[in-house]
Amino acid sequence: MIDIPSPESTADAFADRYGRRPDGVWSAPGRVNLIGEHTDYNDGLVFPFAIERRTWAAVGRREDRLLTVHSGAMPEPAQASLDSLNPEDFDGWSAYVFGVLWAMEQRGVDLAGRTGFDVMLASDVPLGAGLSSSAAIECAVASAVNDEWELGLSRRDLITICQLAENGAVGAPTGNMDQTASLMGKAGHGVLIDVRAETAEPVPLHFADEHLELLVIDTRVHHEHATGGYGARRRSCELGAQLMGVGSLRDLDEADLPRAAEVLDDETFRRVRHVITENARVARTAQVVAADGPRAIGDLLVASHASMRDDFEISVPELDLAVETALANGAIGARMTGGGFGGAAIALLDADRAEEVGGAIQAAFAAAELTAPIVFVVSPSDGAHRDL
Ligand code: GLA
Repeated sequence: MIDIPSPESTADAFADRYGRRPDGVWSAPGRVNLIGEHTDYNDGLVFPFAIERRTWAAVGRREDRLLTVHSGAMPEPAQASLDSLNPEDFDGWSAYVFGVLWAMEQRGVDLAGRTGFDVMLASDVPLGAGLSSSAAIECAVASAVNDEWELGLSRRDLITICQLAENGAVGAPTGNMDQTASLMGKAGHGVLIDVRAETAEPVPLHFADEHLELLVIDTRVHHEHATGGYGARRRSCELGAQLMGVGSLRDLDEADLPRAAEVLDDETFRRVRHVITENARVARTAQVVAADGPRAIGDLLVASHASMRDDFEISVPELDLAVETALANGAIGARMTGGGFGGAAIALLDADRAEEVGGAIQAAFAAAELTAPIVFVVSPSDGAHRDL
């Protein structure tokens, strides 16, 4: 994608490619999850925040029914037609864009009589790092189309549409945390999501007031949720709920664990125990951050990581090393973030220690002969909006 993207540079790139100015530029952020992993598709609690790294979509209406997408990184544009949107025809990254239009149609948006778009994308959300680069594309495009076609869809509608694009067009059986964080994020705030209640409440995090920073350690171990372990974990959770006689794991709490231990095989029990205890940790984190401030949430982050490593088994050695090294060098708390099997870890620490901790992590990876991670600071930022 283009060098240092911004709304203006994305609009200029659009003009270079298409020979006219775009109608506007919209953007949506990636996210990190502070706590609450693999709880979203179990109707549970999640506490992510939107980050300052975003995807920009410069968009201009066409006069015919075509959709054209360029991104600086791709030599060839991708094209589709509003007359025949079919996920089987979508290829690679363009599925995130065309998938949104397909999902809108599935959700009852009438495409008859509408005209298509030219789109230019630019992003500084790292790809495949577990920071929701895909949701950032979906939410930027959905926001643009909602405005351009004057659909009047609510943010809640857009969450549903973008999740459907991810599930039905990209083929990743995810929950809706990423899209909710990207659409509902607010600077300085976490987004406390209750998936069952369909609420997403901004909660002040006070990181800057407390001179804290949140470090992201991208291990560069890549993962895909459309294949592999993510779907297997989801199926274990569904099996656990079924065997426990409930509609979803949200219907269980810590008091149900002894019965779960009797009813379930050891592996399914540990998957279920992760989800039950993780929901409790999310609720507790939101309480503690409000009552005692962000310095008091470290143990909850650490317990979340241990549960993902030991019970849910979605960590990898690189994530464990990042977390252990951050903690050994004075981080208040650290955990892997996102779906697992690679991607990024986060560490909450005093701002003046960020450089030292980052250096210690680089040194630990070098000593273990692992690929050098990419380490950077993120802060809670605003969700999707129109920039120009
Ligand atoms: C990925 C998915 C989310 C969520 C997390 C795990 O990021 O996209 O829906 O399930 O994994 O918490």
